Amino acid sequence: MADGLCLFSKDSLIIKNPKKNPLVLRMVVLMFVMACGVYICSVCLRQYSARSSEHLLEVQVVERSCEAPNVEPSEKHYVHFPKPKTFSRSECACIPVRYFAILSTQRSGSGWFETLLNSHINISSNGEIFSVKVRRSNISTIVETLDKIYNLDWFTSASKNECTAAIGLKWMLNQGLMQNHEEIVKYFNTKGVSAIFLFRRNLLRRMISILANSYDWNAKLLNGTHKSHVHSTHEAEILARYKPTLNTTLLIPNLRQVDDMVTKSLEYFKSTRHIILYYEDVVKNATKLMDVQDFLKVPRRDLNSRQVKIHRGSLSSQVENWGDVEKTLNGTCYESYLNEDYKM
Ligand SMILES: *[C@@H]1O[C@H](CO)[C@@H](O)[C@H](O)[C@H]1NC(C)=O
Ligand SMILES: *[C@@H]1O[C@H](CO)[C@@H](O)[C@H](O)[C@H]1NC(C)=O
Ligand SMILES: *[C@@H]1O[C@H](CO)[C@@H](O)[C@H](O)[C@H]1NC(C)=O
Ligand SMILES: *[C@@H]1O[C@H](CO)[C@@H](O)[C@H](O)[C@H]1NC(C)=O
Ligand SMILES: *[C@@H]1O[C@H](CO)[C@@H](O)[C@H](O)[C@H]1NC(C)=O
Ligand SMILES: *[C@@H]1O[C@H](CO)[C@@H](O)[C@H](O)[C@H]1NC(C)=O
Repeated sequence: MADGLCLFSKDSLIIKNPKKNPLVLRMVVLMFVMACGVYICSVCLRQYSARSSEHLLEVQVVERSCEAPNVEPSEKHYVHFPKPKTFSRSECACIPVRYFAILSTQRSGSGWFETLLNSHINISSNGEIFSVKVRRSNISTIVETLDKIYNLDWFTSASKNECTAAIGLKWMLNQGLMQNHEEIVKYFNTKGVSAIFLFRRNLLRRMISILANSYDWNAKLLNGTHKSHVHSTHEAEILARYKPTLNTTLLIPNLRQVDDMVTKSLEYFKSTRHIILYYEDVVKNATKLMDVQDFLKVPRRDLNSRQVKIHRGSLSSQVENWGDVEKTLNGTCYESYLNEDYKM
């Protein structure tokens, strides 16, 4: 009787049905084993996926437990706890990170300004990342690049990684910023990115700096190497020896073009959280650097840079055809650029 109950006993399979095709029987057994296998697997999988979703829940709980202290509700949007793919923030995982972008124009002191920010232990500004054309080919590549930077997965010499409290980059208006302004403003507002505008009040000085810098691109005044920024007064003096001649026909249209672009950018980005700085003010007034640190909500520190200013003297001594320039700008809305605006 006991043998009869057991379907797969040797007796029932072989002895009691000796004439049946053993191949068919083997197939039946095989099918049964396979069915069992599939069933067991599916049960396992179900348990596994249940367990991994538990795991996900745990992670979310941990994320949520990173609460920034003393953050006003209106500020919450600008506070982040990135989880980089490439490393662990370890003991700084719950230090809030703020996202920023320095929006500027070439030769407006943004290189110098960025070295000042990077001298702060909790600030990482990663340089002119969009000077590389393919990164700004379209809004998808721009967003991809920004995501990587703000997730702390972008490595430059400026990266301070796990204990960074403010992460950003330097971005020139002509590097895809104006063309893609709508999407970028949307990105800034959705992700909580703050903008630091840095412009020059005196666009004539900026023009001289551009001409001198592009002259040096070819002339390579410093022992055959081109330098945009220098670290000694000696080098600065050599570079400042070159006096450009300004094309007086193009002078006013060029100044107007830059002026318009700056005005337009302020209009485009006015809905973002932002601060507007002028190079001249940062040079003259140390409080401006405190304002920036407060804006980024990092602890206040003395910031320093090894860079040395190239053009230090009076404007009239920096231009070959100063008389013509004076005549051209006299009586126009750009007349104030002729005046001494700061002494160093
Ligand atoms: C954006 O640019 C990248 C790189 O040039 C290119 O591979 C990609 O196809 C472009 N995407 C769109 C949507 O145009
Ligand atoms: C700044 O960085 C230091 C050292 O990495 C770290 O100990 C500190 O917690 C950070 N402070 C802030 C406010 O992020
Ligand atoms: C250029 O070379 C001279 C000597 O040949 C050296 O004294 C000077 O430091 C060099 N300057 C730079 C900027 O490399
Ligand atoms: C100034 O620029 C205009 C337009 O490009 C050009 O026609 C003119 O020759 C230039 N003048 C000088 C003195 O280079
Ligand atoms: C320096 O800047 C602060 C604010 O940024 C301002 O209140 C102060 O008046 C400025 N000082 C001078 C001398 O301009
Ligand atoms: C500027 O224009 C005023 C009159 O509008 C004139 O008196 C003055 O001499 C001019 N200055 C220069 C440097 O051309």
